[in-house]
Amino acid sequence: MGASAGGAGTGLAGRRVLLCVTGGIAAYKAVELARRLGDAGAQVQVAMTEAATRFVGAQTFQAVTHRAVRTSLWDASAEAAMGHLELARWAQQVVVAPATADAIAKLAHGFADDLVATLCLATEAPIAIAPAMNHRMWRHPATQANVATLRSRGVQVIGPEDGPLAEGESGPGRLSEPEDIVAALAASAGGGAGHA
Ligand SMILES: Cc1cc2nc3c(=O)[nH]c(=O)nc-3n(C[C@H](O)[C@H](O)[C@H](O)COP(=O)(O)O)c2cc1C
Repeated sequence: MGASAGGAGTGLAGRRVLLCVTGGIAAYKAVELARRLGDAGAQVQVAMTEAATRFVGAQTFQAVTHRAVRTSLWDASAEAAMGHLELARWAQQVVVAPATADAIAKLAHGFADDLVATLCLATEAPIAIAPAMNHRMWRHPATQANVATLRSRGVQVIGPEDGPLAEGESGPGRLSEPEDIVAALAASAGGGAGHA
């Protein structure tokens, strides 16, 4: 993406980015995304769904971002350090990557039954989603309607890409490459992406 060292001159330099990782096979790629956001100069805070923690460990994100990772609404010590509403206010940009079909549905319908959904509902920061799922899940009218709902609210939708999928099939549903997600976020920084 051509970010300069330390992020000087990029739209993400100094920006407080809340990276919400949801439970898809591409969750491991969010580690590289977190690293690249940091390289672009962003302050990166990771929040994970319970399902995401089954694909990649919170400690891995913590090592890359040097910040304690949030994985639950019900973590009393994390809430004491920075409550979820405070974290939602802290964010200047939210990016959900990978965004599962489930997470997209929750955002579209205003659910607040887990940490990531609650943060997305509570924030006033622009939200971007990078969907990743099986191509049939992506093409399903329910998913397409949910994505259209989010777009209509100004949510930035990055990808998905067309190509080979984890389960051996091919089609639209691949998570965009981390450098492309960073580039899309940098391009829109300061722009008008809207709420989920
Ligand atoms: C091995 C495996 C891989 C999965 N990959 C995906 C995926 O890439 N995208 C997706 O939308 N759901 C995927 N799922 C289903 C989600 O994990 C499931 O819908 C889960 O409830 C999502 O929770 P979350 O949205 O709270 O993270 C996968 C499930 C399993 C068991």
